[in-house]
Amino acid sequence: MMEGDWRPTEKPLFTVRVCINKRLNTDKLPSCAGRGSRGLADALEREILAERIPASVTRGPCMNNCAHGPNLKIQGADYFNLEGEVTDGAIERIMVAIRAEAERRKTAETTPAP
Ligand code: FES
Repeated sequence: MMEGDWRPTEKPLFTVRVCINKRLNTDKLPSCAGRGSRGLADALEREILAERIPASVTRGPCMNNCAHGPNLKIQGADYFNLEGEVTDGAIERIMVAIRAEAERRKTAETTPAP
């Protein structure tokens, strides 16, 4: 892409909510940020922008499933708990679900009501 060629994505049709809670660990419980969820949110955001998918990443508080995180929810679609596995493969699985949700919503938007 040439400098000055950047255009914002379309208006987001849905959000991807990523838990970025980090514990002080006084209670010895795991947290999503402690398992890499902040980097995961950044990676997903980069992919979404690069592919111009009409979605946004929301960084949010604890989703109450800390032992299985990082946790994230695609609005109206899949929920993921990565069990500590923030890998390229996991990111690609999430991106497949995000692309599918974007397609589903675009189709729903363009399909005329009966
Ligand atoms: S810290 Fe992420 S679900 Fe609790």
